[in-house]
Amino acid sequence: MAIRHFLTLQDLSSDEFRQLIDRAIELKAIQKEGRIFEPLKNKVLGMIFEKSSTRTRVSFEAGMIQFGGHAIFLSPDHSQVGRGEEIADTARVLSGMVDGIMVRTFEHDIVEEFARYATIPVINGLTDTYHPCQLLADMQTWQEHRGSIAGRTVAYIGDGNNMCHSYINAAILLDFHLRIASPKGYMPDQEIVARGGERIKLYSSAAEAVTGADLVVTDVWASMGQEEEAEERAKTFAPYQVNAGLMALAKPDALFMHCLPAHRGEEVTSDVIDSEQSVVWDEAENRLHAQKALLEFLMA
Ligand code: CP
Ligand code: NVA
Repeated sequence: MAIRHFLTLQDLSSDEFRQLIDRAIELKAIQKEGRIFEPLKNKVLGMIFEKSSTRTRVSFEAGMIQFGGHAIFLSPDHSQVGRGEEIADTARVLSGMVDGIMVRTFEHDIVEEFARYATIPVINGLTDTYHPCQLLADMQTWQEHRGSIAGRTVAYIGDGNNMCHSYINAAILLDFHLRIASPKGYMPDQEIVARGGERIKLYSSAAEAVTGADLVVTDVWASMGQEEEAEERAKTFAPYQVNAGLMALAKPDALFMHCLPAHRGEEVTSDVIDSEQSVVWDEAENRLHAQKALLEFLMA
């Protein structure tokens, strides 16, 4: 069977995406019941992190252990990755030793190059352009709370970044309406937006985008690698803060999500992220269950 990679959500069909969500919910139940389920016994996942991580690292590592396997953490500081060994060479070497590779890095081309040379599944653990693993967890969380997302309206407020692009991809596969409100100069990539067709609408006003929405999502204003722009971005993005006033414009039963880490008082206020409408802790936990479904799909 041909190897499958998971570099963007578009590596899945709509049916496969929905099946992964259903499977994540089943795997969560198995884990909560304390049942041992080890479909990846003796399998090893290599994890290359060129950027920091709490959730992605712990969820992949814990998931592999729960599945009877093991995960190896590789940082650029303590591997040859950081000393300029070619991606193609690293991909070929790791392919001979482990059963899957997760990569968190900067340019999206890097994970594509990994996948070209690897003979085992490659998983995108976040690039500058996409964060597909997070969307598996977000869509699982929506389904657990509200059922199917098809036909619903999601408002993404803030930077047109990797999270925003993955929301566009999810909207295409799961057929929901996505309204994106971003400041001028920080809109998502036009080509990615165009792929979404009629489902995607761009706004300059956060209030207009949120009015009547079923789900409100935001992310940090300065992503990893943009630390030097943080001060300038804080000023530009100030009108895009998700606060109680903005949330009040959404449907009364609207949910709030944020991939975390969050900066309270910047992109979101405490009274929103710590409110009843916020499902961020389920969303974070579901990284574990959703990625276990992904690991089983790609590696079992
Ligand atoms: N949401 C997310 O990917 O978190 P980490 O950066 O902690 O992995
Ligand atoms: N957009 C953020 C997501 C962090 C999980 C970043 O890339 O830093």
